[in-house]
Amino acid sequence: MKSHKTLIATALALGGSVAGSPAVAVELTISCGAVGAELALCEEGVAKWEEKTGHQVDIVSTPNSSTERLSLYQQILSAQSSDIDVMQIDVVWPGLLANHLLNLRDPLGEDAAAGHFDTIVANNTVDDRLVAMPWFTDAGVLYYRKDLLAKHGFEAPETWREMTDIAQEIQAAERDAGNDKMWGYVFQGRAYEGLTCNALEWVASHGGGTIVDADGEITIDNAEAARALDLAATWIGEISPNGVLNYTEEEARGIFQSGNAVFMRNWPYAWSLAQSEDSDVAGKVGVVKLPHGPDGDSAATLGGWNLAVSKYSEHPDLAADLVAFLTGKPEQKRRAIEGAYNPTIAALYEDEAVLEAVPFFGTLYDTFTNAVARPSAPTGDNYGRVSNSFFNAVHDVLSGDRGGAEALTRLDSELSRIKRRRW
Ligand code: GLC
Repeated sequence: MKSHKTLIATALALGGSVAGSPAVAVELTISCGAVGAELALCEEGVAKWEEKTGHQVDIVSTPNSSTERLSLYQQILSAQSSDIDVMQIDVVWPGLLANHLLNLRDPLGEDAAAGHFDTIVANNTVDDRLVAMPWFTDAGVLYYRKDLLAKHGFEAPETWREMTDIAQEIQAAERDAGNDKMWGYVFQGRAYEGLTCNALEWVASHGGGTIVDADGEITIDNAEAARALDLAATWIGEISPNGVLNYTEEEARGIFQSGNAVFMRNWPYAWSLAQSEDSDVAGKVGVVKLPHGPDGDSAATLGGWNLAVSKYSEHPDLAADLVAFLTGKPEQKRRAIEGAYNPTIAALYEDEAVLEAVPFFGTLYDTFTNAVARPSAPTGDNYGRVSNSFFNAVHDVLSGDRGGAEALTRLDSELSRIKRRRW
């Protein structure tokens, strides 16, 4: 990423403003995109705003991993640097970053977020300040190979146990038939925020709760949660490659899209790419809700990204205008159709062109609106520590270093220490 911002206010040459150009063109910097087609989609949206306003926008891309992005942003913001005007922030960060972000209701008005899902607006509102505009929402879904399930006589699985068995059988049969690279299941197993999302789905869908409940009580040390993690540990080296312990979203997609996995857990963005012309699995992919445990209901972790304006921006009003443009309906519709990014504007789920491009936006609508939140609200600015402790504990179990029950008892003490000191 750039180390210095070249924030140039270029006065237009003598003669004042040309039609469509401002008298003084400003250069803003936005940090957006990384995973999949995100960067390209952001560039296209930004180019439209530049054309409309005559201002210029520099795009700074970020690391794929949400955990790495967060520490980068925390460094920039705690230095009160004006290097970046607009930042793409994760749905779990408003509480962590609010003090450094502008209240967007000031430049954009009280109705700035009208028409967007209330839950996301509430999530992005800290101490009555709207610190980010919803851009796209996310929820974990199960991708499967329709062709392979049909060939081997299976329906999409409803429980994790069924998924494990089907994965095992198809993997073995396909390997016997000559594809020795075939795996049953790929997901996000690296020790980072993505593993928190995956493991929360396993735990919640076994009836094991959400790590910390809405009142801030630590609930993770329970038998259902331990059972969920122990089941996931059996996948490693069996239906999931050992490498999954270092996979983020994109590594999982790479294996699935090249035709070498039966099932994949990922976010909706993987749909457009899996269906694209250069994909080996185009036309062969189905998407259903994630499986559940014996005593639970399917759970999808709520994800998603928002656009925020740094309090240290030298052009807050213009930066807010860029945010309003990028998060507005036409842009959200374009991103849904071209990239399968879930709109945060409810009306777009009834838009025919959107539903045609991504049919599961309709069939899985309930999954998107009932997704399970990570405990970022009750843990406030400690969420980063809580998630780090959780994904490290889960990673230990997946790596075979510890059983689920032991790992969760240790995690419980660690979270209690964090809570005593800080929340
Ligand atoms: C997706 C989600 C985001 C989550 C991340 C984890 O980008 O939208 O909320 O934190 O994945 O990898």
